Amino acid sequence: MKTITDLSAWKALEAHRDAVLDVHMRDLFAADPERFERFTRELGPVLLDFSKNRITVETLDLLCDLARQVDVEGWRQRMFDGEAINATEGRAALHVALRNRSNVPYKVAGEDVMPAVNEVLERMRAFTVAIRGGIWKGVTGKPITDIVNIGIGGSDLGPAMATRALAPFGKEGLNLHFVSNIDGVDLAGTINGLDPATTLFIVVSKTFTTVETMTNAESARDWLVAHLGSNAVSRHFAAVSTNRKAVTAFGIDPANMFGFWDWVGGRYSLWSAVGLSLALAIGMDQFESLLKGAEAMDRHFQEAPLDENLPVIMGLIGVWNANFLDACAHAVLPYDQSLGRFPAYLQQLEMESNGKAVTRDGNPVGVSTTPVLFGEPGTNGQHSFYQMIHQSPRLVSCDFIVVANSHEAMPAHHRILVSNALAQTQALMKGRTEAEARAELAAQGVEADVQDRLAPHKVFPGNRPTNTIVLDRVDPYSLGMLIALYEHRVFVQSVIWGINPFDQWGVELGKVMAASVERALAGSDTGKDQDSSTRGLVARVRARSENT
Ligand code: F6P
Repeated sequence: MKTITDLSAWKALEAHRDAVLDVHMRDLFAADPERFERFTRELGPVLLDFSKNRITVETLDLLCDLARQVDVEGWRQRMFDGEAINATEGRAALHVALRNRSNVPYKVAGEDVMPAVNEVLERMRAFTVAIRGGIWKGVTGKPITDIVNIGIGGSDLGPAMATRALAPFGKEGLNLHFVSNIDGVDLAGTINGLDPATTLFIVVSKTFTTVETMTNAESARDWLVAHLGSNAVSRHFAAVSTNRKAVTAFGIDPANMFGFWDWVGGRYSLWSAVGLSLALAIGMDQFESLLKGAEAMDRHFQEAPLDENLPVIMGLIGVWNANFLDACAHAVLPYDQSLGRFPAYLQQLEMESNGKAVTRDGNPVGVSTTPVLFGEPGTNGQHSFYQMIHQSPRLVSCDFIVVANSHEAMPAHHRILVSNALAQTQALMKGRTEAEARAELAAQGVEADVQDRLAPHKVFPGNRPTNTIVLDRVDPYSLGMLIALYEHRVFVQSVIWGINPFDQWGVELGKVMAASVERALAGSDTGKDQDSSTRGLVARVRARSENT
């Protein structure tokens, strides 16, 4: 059976990798004074510097050949054409229609989806104006001061990440909260201290069956009803879902329901009514600005030549690092505290999309797919896991995200922050040779025998690949561009690996098993079908629990 490794473009990249494996980026920079210009692309407020990767012009050419051979351009067109490219679920993946503010028709199964998209956006606008303007009153006649988004995965991570990133665009006196975990600590810790009379819950779930979300929503409703009576539900609950029947059965007024469609994947849904809590936080004009930023990235992704195309370049370099240089992980390192949840958001986007082992037709991919993605804001990460990135024998590639203008006017802080980011990329590229380590020790007056002992510990191999993304500022437009950049990067990589990035069958098995473990924990199932470890753990937890 043929796999990607049989493609001539793949073989050419392997041969090229063998030829450049020992080349150090120090030498590449020394040999080419234009290297930064050669490997930097700019699009409006976004700059991508990928010069600190172990690539040459030939590498980029060969990667673009690979993109052509697997037909990235054709698959891109199929996505924008609304074809059912999510074949295992028989669905289109047309999240790009949600931010199509120029309103060109986007069709699914021959039908233009834009009238429905625009209608929901208009309803969102009316709702946000009413809540933000204090026109919408709770059951006791008071305006809403606290909004609790109840959702998980794609129904939480995007809105929570973006609401935090865009907090300076928020409205004073309107507080946003996000509850996702089934652990009661999450819900209780959020609603304790809130006034039910001024609280609005937004239950966000594509399916409206997700156990965490439904359990949290039921407990929130119990809390509200206990304080204000059952009449309060229609003034204090709204829903975002594709499942109207389940929303109605839950008791939420259909007038307070905002729909979306099966062609919107959960982790691609921020742009739909799933972004309602964000829209409430920042207002509908700013939410539309987020959509316009994403739309600008969509246009660029559709139109720019492969070697000028930011998502294509990032996708290809990710493949180069993971498959040809054997990077085991990819760190996303925003040097901006407001982007603190961006790595968590990307974990789902990248790993739920591309953590797959079989191709679209069910055959083994033949190479590793998405590396582990992790990250923390800088400089915090520097004092935590950067040691491994600098000196471990395992290669970790990184994206550094640098913001030219901070939300806060504290120039001294910002200068230190940005210089750390840029210095890290330099250190990871250059490293420190043994001779340099010795020279440094000698300059400190360290004895020769101590130099011998310490020098190996002070060597940094360098040659560690990094991209640097610079944003003018974290505003709705730039954030929209940034998120769409990563979405399309994920898509490009999925096409290279030949996989469907829009399904997530891998999340199912654990959910099914949790139901039978729950019965065993409750004592209503003997657990005889469980393995001995699981059975033993259930028994021990029951023995230690004060509630059994
Ligand atoms: O468990 C995975 C998942 O299906 C994600 O893909 C999704 O974002 C999340 O659960 C939440 O799903 P829903 O919006 O249907 O509650």
